[in-house]
Amino acid sequence: MDRLNRIQVSVSSNDDMNISRRSGSNNCAMRLRRGPKCYILAATFFFFIFLIYVNDLTYITAYLNKKVPVHRHVVRWLDYKLKIDHRKPRIMITYKGRLGNHMFEYATLMGMARRHNMTPIIPEDLDVLDVFKLPTLQGGLDLLREPKSYPEEKAATYYKGVENIDRTCDAYLEGYYQSWRYFDNLREELLTKHFVLHESLKSAAKEYIRKLLEERNLEGAVLVSIHVRRGDFVRQKVKGYTAAPIPYYYRAMNYFRKKYGKVMFIICTNDLIWAETNLDEGSDVHYSHETDGSLDLAIMISCDHMIITSGSYSWWAGYLVRGEVIYYAGYPQPNTKIGNLTVKEDYYPPYWQGRW
Ligand SMILES: *[C@@H]1O[C@H](CO)[C@@H](O)[C@H](O)[C@H]1NC(C)=O
Repeated sequence: MDRLNRIQVSVSSNDDMNISRRSGSNNCAMRLRRGPKCYILAATFFFFIFLIYVNDLTYITAYLNKKVPVHRHVVRWLDYKLKIDHRKPRIMITYKGRLGNHMFEYATLMGMARRHNMTPIIPEDLDVLDVFKLPTLQGGLDLLREPKSYPEEKAATYYKGVENIDRTCDAYLEGYYQSWRYFDNLREELLTKHFVLHESLKSAAKEYIRKLLEERNLEGAVLVSIHVRRGDFVRQKVKGYTAAPIPYYYRAMNYFRKKYGKVMFIICTNDLIWAETNLDEGSDVHYSHETDGSLDLAIMISCDHMIITSGSYSWWAGYLVRGEVIYYAGYPQPNTKIGNLTVKEDYYPPYWQGRW
């Protein structure tokens, strides 16, 4: 009994001591301890308010979407309108489809603007701006002054009508315009001045590749990227979409292995499960698990050579690589909807190798 009491007493007296310590001279220490946290909280709060104020949520949205943040290159018509020769006719194009289609449309626009000495204008919200620093004026369709329309005949067949664009008035191109013939004379310029990666994407891709080569002990290897397009291309066979079969990949890869010896393959795909199940898993093969299509594109075009399959995203990855390009000759399937819209000689540049 006596012991118990003593213990209780000592406990309570300890408590008292703590209380007196806290409430006494240590008020200041407490404030200090809470201080930095308060400042951090307040700073974070004001930082977000600031971000909302300047309306630049680039980093937040990029983080949420697992993308590399990029600052779009803005060349607003309004900022340049006093420096432009307004007597020159203007030219714009429709943007049908997705990123790869838009790249075709953009390149065709540049090709035609150069050919006919017109001022090209693109929309401000073009998705290509998320990947490349396009130096072209951005403005709305209302900038066209009673334009003439030029609807293409077939999506992947050279349309001769572009040779006779009326140079006395504004022009509006309508369609997909998917042929190297519209812009191949500007290829060097497209590569060095137009399809220039945003710095953040470029360095992310470079770092990705550097780490990979280091991990595999393959520094100095020739880099070959492979784009495996499946998904909708497997489901829509009736329309003429074809997905490259497994042997195509093996043959194309062996071609590069034989020719260059030390090779590193980087596979980007919209069907990772199929690719990892069916394709090579050698020590010189790596599968990109990136979910950011822009970063995948940046990685592919940072390689030396390419093996493409089908679709315009694949096509453009190949076009922006400086080395050799192998494409799947079985795309598109002849005598189908897409096959009938395509003239292969117009679609694939003559300096690419078609293989089965
Ligand atoms: C493709 O063109 C061929 C020959 O012109 C025609 O017979 C066929 O019906 C077309 N196919 C489709 C799906 O449009």
